[in-house]
Amino acid sequence: MLYTALLLWISCLQAVLGQPSEAYNEVLKFRPLPRNSLLASFEFNIVSSPVQLKYHGEDSRQTWEGHEHYELFPRVLGPIVEASNTRELHLRFSQGWYDTESSGRLPFNGSKSGGTGVELWAVIEAPDLDAAKADWVKLTNALSGLFCASFNFINDPITTSPRLQFEGKKTGYLANLGNSLFLLRAALPNEPICTENLTPMLRLLPTRGKRGISSLLDGHKIFDSLWHSMSIDLVTQCDDSFSNCALRMDQTIISAIDVIRSLRRIEEGGIPKPTPGEKLRCDESRYHDIWECFPLGDPEDLSYDIESIFGRAIHGAAFEDSSVSTEVSFEADPSVWQIEAISNRSGQEKRTDLTNAGQLNHISYKIADQKDYNFNFTTANSTITSPLPPPPLHAYRSLTGYSQDKGGIRVSFTNLNSNNVKFIYFESLPWFMRVYLSTFKIELQNTTGTYSVKDENEFIKKSYFKPAIDRKRPSQLELFLTVPPESSLIINYDFDKSLLLYAEYPPDANHGFDVEPAAISVIGDDNEIFYEMHTTSLLLTLPTPDFSMPYNVIILTCTVMSLAFGSIFNLLTKKVITEEELEKLSAEGKLAKIMNSVKRKLGKR
Ligand SMILES: *[C@@H]1O[C@H](CO)[C@@H](O)[C@H](O)[C@H]1NC(C)=O
Ligand SMILES: *[C@@H]1O[C@H](CO)[C@@H](O)[C@H](O)[C@H]1NC(C)=O
Ligand SMILES: *[C@@H]1O[C@H](CO)[C@@H](O)[C@H](O)[C@H]1NC(C)=O
Ligand SMILES: *[C@@H]1O[C@H](CO)[C@@H](O)[C@H](O)[C@H]1NC(C)=O
Ligand SMILES: *[C@@H]1O[C@H](CO)[C@@H](O)[C@H](O)[C@H]1NC(C)=O
Repeated sequence: MLYTALLLWISCLQAVLGQPSEAYNEVLKFRPLPRNSLLASFEFNIVSSPVQLKYHGEDSRQTWEGHEHYELFPRVLGPIVEASNTRELHLRFSQGWYDTESSGRLPFNGSKSGGTGVELWAVIEAPDLDAAKADWVKLTNALSGLFCASFNFINDPITTSPRLQFEGKKTGYLANLGNSLFLLRAALPNEPICTENLTPMLRLLPTRGKRGISSLLDGHKIFDSLWHSMSIDLVTQCDDSFSNCALRMDQTIISAIDVIRSLRRIEEGGIPKPTPGEKLRCDESRYHDIWECFPLGDPEDLSYDIESIFGRAIHGAAFEDSSVSTEVSFEADPSVWQIEAISNRSGQEKRTDLTNAGQLNHISYKIADQKDYNFNFTTANSTITSPLPPPPLHAYRSLTGYSQDKGGIRVSFTNLNSNNVKFIYFESLPWFMRVYLSTFKIELQNTTGTYSVKDENEFIKKSYFKPAIDRKRPSQLELFLTVPPESSLIINYDFDKSLLLYAEYPPDANHGFDVEPAAISVIGDDNEIFYEMHTTSLLLTLPTPDFSMPYNVIILTCTVMSLAFGSIFNLLTKKVITEEELEKLSAEGKLAKIMNSVKRKLGKR
């Protein structure tokens, strides 16, 4: 009701002022994936009404007037972005592993998913890099409070400003006179992603997670998945004259859910238990009895519904007003998958079979009323899915070497297509990995064998390397590479491991140090990025002092000292005397004197 009033009010205002108003749109996509998993991607787009972007210098006070123009656009984010002169903001929270070999490309061509942990990119308008860094600190501190994440740990030793990556990106904004745009990036690979990061994401939505597709989002279910990624992309969109600008925010939450595990968790109430004997599916072609069983994989004839997987139903359209569309779409083969929409209001159920509506792989359903919606998936063969096309490139990065103070990095890029693949490889390593570019080697592996490449420029079109400075900045390696068809390119280089100061080790130093994933942007024929991906993060073990030894030494020394001190102190301070001397002394003691004088006085009477 409130939102209707709000929307009406906005449209009235718009009619009076003749301004384009804010826009909001939400889409939920389901796609069954191989191995009984389900990909759910939630997408929300909000465009603000036109904003006047000013450059806020170091000494100019931020004025909070004029922020009333945010109605649907989150009021908390707008001022942060404006005060820190941020013109673009890209935030990624990801965890888990997405199997591109069986499931195909990442959703949204990878443009909405980051590497393991948290990743932050921002384009900041400033006269120079130092001013941009000051705004970057302002931005990360504000975001840290907003998203309950450790962005406040982002400092100079992990911040980079990518070069080649930036050349490939287009910004829809022109800096004010005398200013330039700076791209800054940082990643926190060891940041755990949990429910407390989801709640702030939902708070940014005009529906606050109460209505529309966002009502399905429950932290316990979203994060209990094989892979999940949350993203926020905030960009400044200007018209051709760069005079009329608006902020556009795209929010996505993507989760690859293991359906069998989710259903079992509901049946068994949380704690996973081994499958009981009578429920085991045994391979009938082999010998089996109550003692022996060759278990089969997961069942192929499945039936599940969204309400049991997410623990709740979709509570109607986003707004009562039908101007905002709430769309749910399904990408599944209708010959094997049957999808049913179940709407429910006060017990009145209505079932609609969606697979009869369209015979394409893409089924779309619009929710327009305020009923509760559930969707039921039934299939006779869940192995038949419509996977996304395979990714243009496969990349694997690993640590090599076995010595305590030296190591190496090996990255392999495999192109299975029949044409060249061009991409930008971006890697930032912490300062305690001292990279030796002199050891840089390239190998080419194709169907005829493995060749070591003499002329690197054959495959590297452009490169940029910025060495690290201890405790000041990380090393930054960017390569513009080309991989020939049906071959693999393998890059190898060595590094030295530094010895850190004892306070620089994390509380659990023996876990190792997380090294952030490398980012890869694949470039199409039109020189634009068309696919993005990340390698996995690495776990580096550094030479670690034995932190328990000083502790052991301290407690052992203290025990010995206290024992020795007690007895030696006794020996030194106490006098050793014989029994006769003691009796004599006690006869002359004060107490004896008093007793004697009392006796004497009594004796006189
Ligand atoms: C992903 O990239 C392919 C090829 O460039 C394109 O056809 C497709 O539309 C893109 N998909 C999305 C969701 O952007
Ligand atoms: C429909 O709603 C009623 C109560 O509002 C509930 O008892 C019933 O279980 C619901 N049915 C389904 C299929 O969700
Ligand atoms: C989904 O469909 C299957 C098969 O038609 C049925 O057994 C099941 O009860 C349905 N689930 C719901 C929640 O309606
Ligand atoms: C499901 O489809 C796959 C691939 O077409 C096939 O190999 C398998 O036998 C089918 N399973 C069932 C139970 O029909
Ligand atoms: C494999 O690479 C080598 C070295 O670049 C080249 O001479 C050879 O023709 C390639 N083989 C194929 C099948 O492309």
